[in-house]
Amino acid sequence: MLHVLVLFSLILSSSHALVQDFCVGDLKGPDGPAGFSCKPPSNLTVDDFVFTGLAKAGNTSNIISAAVTPAFVGQFPGVNGLGLSAARLDLAPGGVIPMHTHPGANELLSVLHGHITAGFIASDNSVYVTTLKKGEIMVFPQGLLHFQINAGKNGALALVTFSSPNPGLQILDFALFASNLPTKIVVKTTFLDEATVKKLKAVLGGTG
Ligand SMILES: *[C@@H]1O[C@H](CO)[C@@H](O)[C@H](O)[C@H]1NC(C)=O
Ligand SMILES: *[C@@H]1O[C@H](CO)[C@@H](O)[C@H](O)[C@H]1NC(C)=O
Repeated sequence: MLHVLVLFSLILSSSHALVQDFCVGDLKGPDGPAGFSCKPPSNLTVDDFVFTGLAKAGNTSNIISAAVTPAFVGQFPGVNGLGLSAARLDLAPGGVIPMHTHPGANELLSVLHGHITAGFIASDNSVYVTTLKKGEIMVFPQGLLHFQINAGKNGALALVTFSSPNPGLQILDFALFASNLPTKIVVKTTFLDEATVKKLKAVLGGTG
């Protein structure tokens, strides 16, 4: 009995010493690999732990007929240091979230409405693709190229969660055709013909 009590008090005292409940990010300060520094707890209210920005549909009047509304640490400082974040995906009919990666996080997709064809390509080029319906979820391992396509006639809606407050987002076609990487190098490194590269750069705003 005494042993149990000693152990219990050790756990209590060490948790007091070591556990920090939260670290709401102070976005005015510098960002580092460990995240932002903490806002003083005396400055916090419940609103620091709430993000209302995902309640509203994103604007899908764009080239991909889709919108990604992030609730990453930059929008929602309450997730700083907690190892997670979220985003809302709105897909109009014909909409697509083009091939992309999150260099810093695993992703969990939950379909809330409609049908979404989703998939990823593993490092060995194995392809994992399926069509999900409302209520179904799928994981996308960190760093792997993946995509989501509206597979229905109406709009589709999904909530995605990430295993990092700052997952990052790199869209393959934007990296290649919306950047200033010279056309000659894009042609050489992708094996695409120059006309295709120039056409995609014109559409996506790339230069060089
Ligand atoms: C904390 O609140 C005080 C008083 O409102 C303000 O002056 C200070 O800038 C706040 N600090 C941060 C990091 O938000
Ligand atoms: C959606 O985006 C388009 C293109 O930028 C813009 O013309 C339109 O006004 C926006 N709609 C809303 C509701 O914000």
